Amino acid sequence: MTLFEEIRRRRTFAIISHPDAGKTTLTEKLLLFGGAIREAGAVKSNKAQRYATSDFMEIEKQRGISVATSVMGFEYNNKKINILDTPGHQDFAEDTYRTLTAADSVIVVIDAAKGVEAQTEKLVEVSRMRKTPVIFFINKMDRPGKETLELLDEIEEKLKVTIIPLSWPIGAGIKFKGVYNIWKKELNLFRPGDETPDPAIILQDIYSPLLEKYADSSAETLREELELAKGVYQPFDQQKYLNGDICPVFFGSAINNFGVRELLECFIEIAPPPRAAETETRTVFADDEQFSGFVFKIHANLDPKHRTRIAFLRVVSGVFHRDQNYFHPRLKRNLRFGSPTSFMADKKSVIDEAYPGDIVGLPDTGIFIIGDSLTEGEFLKFRGIPSFSPEQFRYIENINTMKYKQLNKGIEQLMDEGVAQLFVSRYNGRKIIGTVGALQFDVIQYRLEHEYGASCRYESLPMFKACWITSSNEKKLKDFLEAEHASIADDIDGKPVFLASSPWRLNRTKEEYPDIQFYFVSEWDG
Ligand code: G4P
Repeated sequence: MTLFEEIRRRRTFAIISHPDAGKTTLTEKLLLFGGAIREAGAVKSNKAQRYATSDFMEIEKQRGISVATSVMGFEYNNKKINILDTPGHQDFAEDTYRTLTAADSVIVVIDAAKGVEAQTEKLVEVSRMRKTPVIFFINKMDRPGKETLELLDEIEEKLKVTIIPLSWPIGAGIKFKGVYNIWKKELNLFRPGDETPDPAIILQDIYSPLLEKYADSSAETLREELELAKGVYQPFDQQKYLNGDICPVFFGSAINNFGVRELLECFIEIAPPPRAAETETRTVFADDEQFSGFVFKIHANLDPKHRTRIAFLRVVSGVFHRDQNYFHPRLKRNLRFGSPTSFMADKKSVIDEAYPGDIVGLPDTGIFIIGDSLTEGEFLKFRGIPSFSPEQFRYIENINTMKYKQLNKGIEQLMDEGVAQLFVSRYNGRKIIGTVGALQFDVIQYRLEHEYGASCRYESLPMFKACWITSSNEKKLKDFLEAEHASIADDIDGKPVFLASSPWRLNRTKEEYPDIQFYFVSEWDG
């Protein structure tokens, strides 16, 4: 197959949801279709040890939430599909934001009864900012849920998107009879508990008496609702979807394996193949002959017996080959990888080559940080992999003087992985850990102890935000840094940040120093 054909057949997407909406269940059903796993329930049949195939870390098993983001690839209808799983828990939102930089499109799972939940709002907002094409899957239709039109209105209003239903439910809860697949003009009938749904019934004309035969008393309601929907929603336009302007919606019940195949079949047809990516110097197109890629995630200790890390590299252009020399622009070094891996559900296997859209696992001994690129020699720095201002801050202190080195090493490596951000106060030289949620402090403490044998304690630092600062006037910037010395810290790249104790203090400082620009995101020009 040519490079062009390999690119055309790839679909790399992230699956996101508020916890408990059914992301894991849907992912497993998709993997089942691709033959990547054999039995869905097997990986989470027992609630006490409930975890998905994607949850590698011990801590996740303990907490029952998906802390890590991982990758699962499978083949379906000659398409190579790469699913990027994301942690649902809000404290790990930054991990999810970064994963979105490696995805060409997104599937958002929504619980039909709960509607749009907080975490969905945040994540869809990031997708919208990046103009990523989004498909919604409304899950748990077998449970009593919100009324269809009400739910669709809520999605449009809360998520500020324009939706296009490509399937329509027939009833809900105990009266859920199935869906009419508007995309394919087919009727899919639901039989609760039966994981191998009946073949679809082709029904081009919804006024056909066949509808009564299958949907009996619900037939008339379905017709009315479909007529109504025709008036309310515009017809599907693939280009608008690809531009991120409209979002198709599917209904189903992941646990019952219902509506999943329809979602998958439409997805592989309409979702974008690997897209071009911007760098600081030029646009890199997927079909550029020269290989390039960037690291969007670093994962430690896949195998708890070894302290190995794995860097997740998204191939952007060209073909990645095993055992070939590649250039690491930040370190200005050539590197060669003898055992790069691909991911197939819970298995990883060594690969010889990878194409745009693929995610390659590179064994990492501390040479990568998030955002690094690999090329065939060109100095490329991909844009759009920002750090977001943390929302919680604590001083971190060593409590075992014998383990000082281990602690520093552990902190450094966890920061490279993007678990949290490290700042050093210019005022007192103390280390400050900044995170999006409180849970990360526990994760850091746990991992420092279990992986590095180091112990730490925290001291609270009631701050509101860390703002990156710039100014076109160097003198004014210098004056500002001096005057606000007590509130300045350096980030891991040595960039100064202003630690604002409250929104009020931030606003006052902004007014006082009109020549200084304050940013909540580290990549302000990206
Ligand atoms: P998440 O990854 O988004 O957090 O959600 P997950 O798939 O773990 O699903 C959350 C719960 O919702 C699970 O139940 C799961 O079985 C259930 N679920 C998923 N899809 C459907 C569906 O279509 N219909 C119904 N009725 N339930 C669904 P649990 O009791 O929390 O866990 P488990 O004991 O079933 O594993």
